[in-house]
This record gives sequence, structure tokens and C-alpha cells, in this order.
Amino acid sequence: MHILTSVAEMQKYSRSLQRQGLRVGFVPTMGYLHDGHVSLVELAQRHSDVVGASIFVNPTQFSPTEDLAQYPRDFDGDSAKLQSAGCQFIFFPPVQEMYPDGASTVVEVEGVTSRYEGAFRPTHFRGVTTIVAKLFNSVLPDVAAFGQKDAQQVAVVRKMMQDLNFPIQLLVGETVREPDGLAMSSRNVYLSPEDRAHGLSISAALRAAQQLAATGGTLREVEHALRSQLSPAIALDYADVVDPQTFHPATDSSAEWLGIIAGKIGRTRLIDNMLLRSIPQ
Ligand code: PAJ
Repeated sequence: MHILTSVAEMQKYSRSLQRQGLRVGFVPTMGYLHDGHVSLVELAQRHSDVVGASIFVNPTQFSPTEDLAQYPRDFDGDSAKLQSAGCQFIFFPPVQEMYPDGASTVVEVEGVTSRYEGAFRPTHFRGVTTIVAKLFNSVLPDVAAFGQKDAQQVAVVRKMMQDLNFPIQLLVGETVREPDGLAMSSRNVYLSPEDRAHGLSISAALRAAQQLAATGGTLREVEHALRSQLSPAIALDYADVVDPQTFHPATDSSAEWLGIIAGKIGRTRLIDNMLLRSIPQ
């Protein structure tokens, strides 16, 4: 497995693969990898010839009050997981390589970034789109895989790719869950067993809402199911039903209903979502 730490060597390596007629697949990550990340590697492998991942804890998507310094890191563990998943390269740049002194350009998507995650974390998506654009220009992939776990991130990245004409195929992988239903997240390591029990009410609430929608529940009923099942120990940011493309609140006639929940248990912020209804048009 190749480990590349500079943009120039990454671009050179990727171009050499493409000259051999190989399609390059890419999974951007912040490391501390779990089976959700590995499932994205496998998804990218089904659509390309050579797959690699980036590991970069991106400072610009954390606000000053968030967990950048504490964000869990384990390069050796991550590279072992990527190797056994069949990854052929890791892009692992230092912060200075991605943000050299004097860098002053940002990539910002308007509209969909102003709601929900964007409202609670005002500079977050600007950091995400700036680094994803820079990672795309470094790795030069043909295909890139993102997780539905971060549904609004997918909507924002999709919009950026359309608006800026990135010639890259976007793949979206389903959320991988623990056997008890908790969505896998690098941040789950912060949860005590008690916190974790409260956290389980998030996926349980989404499933209850999904069941109600499947049996013809109205939007009001589905929203009620989503909110009433949550543990009171969760300091809720939002629990809503939205259109998955725009993140505007859904209506009874929307073709797709996406249930979205985010909140804090102690100092750990959890986020999850589920497609509650999808009516073919
Ligand atoms: P990170 O949180 O490391 O996630 C990397 C990718 O894994 C994202 O596309 C995320 O949606 C996906 N993922 C996380 N948990 C998952 C799960 N349980 N099942 C399936 N996929 C899951 O998202 C980021 O990093 C960053 O914002 C990044 C895009 C790398 C930009 O810095």
C-alpha cells in the first residue's frame, strides 16, 4: 500500500494509474476508521479499479468550541484496516500541506448549508467543501464515495460537484450500524455505557417513524413518533422530517421524507438519519 503525504506525489501517483487505463476510487475520511468507512471502500471498489482513502482531520470544519484537539486518531490501526480492505493508497497529508501559510480561498455552497447542521455549526460546511475540493484536486479520482450517515454533507457535496463541474462520479453508501442499531461513528468511543443507552433512542425513534410512514402515517404523526421516542437525556439540536435534496421541511405531498436527528449526550454530539418514505414519481 502506498502512503502519500504531499499533493504533488499524490497527483503523480493518480495520473500514473490513469495512464494505465485504471479508474481511481476515493474515500475521504478523518480517520479512526470503523466498518462504515470500510463499507465505502468496498462500494468504491465495485465502481473502480484502484481504491484509496485520505486520512486528514480537517481543522477548518471544526468550530473553536468543538473537539478538534481531542478527535481520536490511530494511523496504524487505520492503515491495517485499509490494507485488509484492499486499499492501494492512503493520502495522509500534514495540515501545512493542505493549508499552507497564506492560503485564503474557500469553497462555499449556499442554500442547503444554512439549515440544520449548517445552522448549528455555522462554519462547518465551508470547511468540508473547501477540503473536499482540495482533496479531489489532490487525489484526482474518477469516483468518490460518501456515507448517507452524513446526509446533509452528501447534499452539500453533490451540489458543489454539480456547480463546480467536478468530473467525478459520486457514490453514496448506506449507514452501517452496530448490532443494537447505533450508527457507527468515530465519536462513539466517547460514549459511556449509560450515554450509549440514551443514544440508542435515536435509531429507535427513526425506525418507529419509518414504520409509521410505511403504514400511511401523516407527516404530523411521523414527526410526533420521531420526537416522542427520544431519551430526555439528549440535548436535542433537531428532530425533523425534510426533503433529502434541499433540507427544507417536508410536506405531506413530498415524494421523499428523510428523518434527521442530532443532539448531544454529555459532550458527545450524535447525528443520524433514515429515509422514512420514498414514493416513486
Ligand atoms: P468522517 O467522519 O471520517 O467520515 C468519512 C466518511 O465516512 C463520510 O462520507 C461519512 O459519511 C462516512 N461514514 C461515517 N459513518 C458512517 C457509517 N456509520 N456508515 C457509513 N458511512 C459512514 O465525513 C467526514 O469524515 C469529513 O467531513 C470529510 C468528508 C472527510 C471531509 O473532511
